[in-house]
Amino acid sequence: MAWKDWIRGAEIEPSIYAADFARLGDDLGALLDAGAKIFQFDVGDGHFVEPVTIGPIVLQAISPLFRQRGGILDVHLMVDNPEHHFEAFARAGADSVTAHFEIVGGHVGETAAKARDLGLGFGLAVNPDTPVEEVAAAADPVDLVLVMGVHPGSSGQAYIPDTTERVRRLGALLPAEVPIQVDGGVGEENIQALHQAGATLFVAGSSVFDGVDPPAAYRRLADAVS
Ligand code: DX5
Repeated sequence: MAWKDWIRGAEIEPSIYAADFARLGDDLGALLDAGAKIFQFDVGDGHFVEPVTIGPIVLQAISPLFRQRGGILDVHLMVDNPEHHFEAFARAGADSVTAHFEIVGGHVGETAAKARDLGLGFGLAVNPDTPVEEVAAAADPVDLVLVMGVHPGSSGQAYIPDTTERVRRLGALLPAEVPIQVDGGVGEENIQALHQAGATLFVAGSSVFDGVDPPAAYRRLADAVS
């Protein structure tokens, strides 16, 4: 199975990094009940991004629930040496890994092949200050391109407005079969403009988990792009 089999038109991907970890299993189950299918799992190493976030041991704890329910775990590696971690995340239950262009830009093909050899999908992420044209030129072997709407590292940051135009420019350069994912600051106020600009995968942290009813928040976002 691959990204083209997982995507149902447009997807809202709850960002687990923004969840209440004291009630993680319950909240993820409720979101799966509400129709969420693909969830992003953010990994920070204290180098590429300041915070050390969550790792394979947490993924291993939640992946049985996803196996049972047909959910997909999309691991965003905000780390200096992504290939080094591929095997541990594959063993822990990841379905796909995304590495940053700022780290693997010179050897995207090799990195994608290493992920695929482990049965993983592979995505390429780009930070706000990196020209999307450079990423488009390197995106041939990838399953998706992730455009950051904030500087990576934490949930709840303000959306960087020119991200929408960057998505539009990238969409004009990428093959139609390579979906554009947006991560960081995505919410009801910008998701329709991002969808019209060409994005189909929307990572949502605080806009799903900060409210009192994450399933309802998820459904509102899903309705906005359906
Ligand atoms: C931040 C992470 C994002 C973050 C999204 O670096 O990559 O996935 O959790 O959270 P919001 O939607 O609140 O910006």
